[in-house]
Amino acid sequence: MDCNVFNPVDLPCGRTIENRLVKTAMYEHMANFSGGPPNEFHYGLYSEWAKHGWGMILTGNVQVSPQHLTLGRDIVVPPTLDAEDVKPFKKLAEVIHGAVDGTRSLAIMQLSHAGRQSANFIGGRLPFVPPLAPSSVRVGARHDENRGGGAISNLIFHALFQVPTEMTALDILHVQSSFVRGALLAYKSGFDGIQLHAAHGYLLAQFMSPKSNIRNDKYSVAPENATRMLSEIIEAIRKVVPTTFIIGIKINSADYVTSGNTEEISQESERRVLDHIRTIASWGVIDFIEISGGDYEKPDFMACSGSRKLDRQAFFAQFSRTVMKDLHRSPVPFSSVPLILLTGGLRSHSHLQAALMSRHADLLGIGRCAVLCPDLPKILRLQLRNNKSSSTWVDKPFTREPEAVFRASKWVPSVKLIGSGVGTAWYTTRMRDIAISQIKNPRAEPPADYNRGGLIAVFTMWAWFDSRIAPIWVLGILMVLVVTAGFSCQQ
Ligand SMILES: Cc1cc2nc3c(=O)[nH]c(=O)nc-3n(C[C@H](O)[C@H](O)[C@H](O)COP(=O)(O)O)c2cc1C
Repeated sequence: MDCNVFNPVDLPCGRTIENRLVKTAMYEHMANFSGGPPNEFHYGLYSEWAKHGWGMILTGNVQVSPQHLTLGRDIVVPPTLDAEDVKPFKKLAEVIHGAVDGTRSLAIMQLSHAGRQSANFIGGRLPFVPPLAPSSVRVGARHDENRGGGAISNLIFHALFQVPTEMTALDILHVQSSFVRGALLAYKSGFDGIQLHAAHGYLLAQFMSPKSNIRNDKYSVAPENATRMLSEIIEAIRKVVPTTFIIGIKINSADYVTSGNTEEISQESERRVLDHIRTIASWGVIDFIEISGGDYEKPDFMACSGSRKLDRQAFFAQFSRTVMKDLHRSPVPFSSVPLILLTGGLRSHSHLQAALMSRHADLLGIGRCAVLCPDLPKILRLQLRNNKSSSTWVDKPFTREPEAVFRASKWVPSVKLIGSGVGTAWYTTRMRDIAISQIKNPRAEPPADYNRGGLIAVFTMWAWFDSRIAPIWVLGILMVLVVTAGFSCQQ
């Protein structure tokens, strides 16, 4: 087993990743309200990552449906792919490829559809118009953990999420073609590939989980049907992109179903996911599978390393090791076995090393630490050069993590969505700081503001708007004031 983080590795499609470090997908919250193309803030942010030699850089989730956004400022696949539509995406791919130290990071666009997790008001639909999903099961409706923990949890799920509308055969076809359009967009823009987001409870994960899919048709969760939505999308994508175009999938290690003994259910659920992964690998056309976990009901992917039971190894390491073993025993030819990308909780040099040496993963996904330390690959490379051998790497975290985020997860332990919401806010505001600083001075490296508290982060996340559209806001506020004043004069 190749244990050096900086050793290259080949993907089944024939492309090579120059090293094992992957900047994993993180929603940026920088596009226009109600979604849009990437803009100069995205270019600023990604130019910082591009400088430092990541093997692969994934975008945050790019939504294939403008009516199914996550937090409202998502990048969205345009309805047509004319030269003008493609231009801002092309620029983003160029920025990601624009390495300065010789490492050419592969640029991967993550494609997603939020399905039932697209919130009311900010999801890109008119208020109270329900989102589409495999079945009419609202977020939180079949989740045991919230019972007992939760009147507040339930209230929040009710306030944010609607009972979705079950997708018809036509809706399914339409969504599939939107994913294909997304892949074509990535290809035409010069991205090296795409990742389909089938984790964290979004639409493609909803199709594979009995929590959210209670259909009886050919898209049910029965073993022969559970991966049908994914397989049809991938088959259609492979028809329109070259064989060297990278296709990855992000998938959950397990999800948490409705009742009974939690341990047993978790094992049952892991067995089911392992079956899905075996099926996906057997198609022979997938380059990498990212292992993550959790959804809005139980956002495990946003766990804090401050939580005691999680700090010894990556969150989903055991499961990804099982997957690695299983795939290498499978009849799939070795050259077609997808690489395994492990994400979540990789926080120190020893985590990275253990993941490669213990065969937990081929690729190492880093999210929050990539925001705190965009130059992580450069630092690791320097350390390796100085220490000669990676076995002498110091076992300490890459970087400090924000106290505000730990505090939020302690205040509201029974409402995990809020804790993870504060975390998301903190990291998106930090990404914005990086973007703005890069726009002002590309050579600057702004220090992280660890004093930014959770509430301030949430406020700053939502109260920010692009100064170029400030006149529209001012005009809008003035109009509201004038109308209100006129109204009160008439009374
Ligand atoms: C601000 C923020 C935004 C995220 N957005 C996405 C996303 O768009 N797509 C995705 O697959 N995961 C997303 N994630 C989850 C990360 O990809 C990753 O799975 C998670 O942060 C765990 O990795 P880490 O412990 O290295 O941070 C996001 C995480 C954060 C902190």
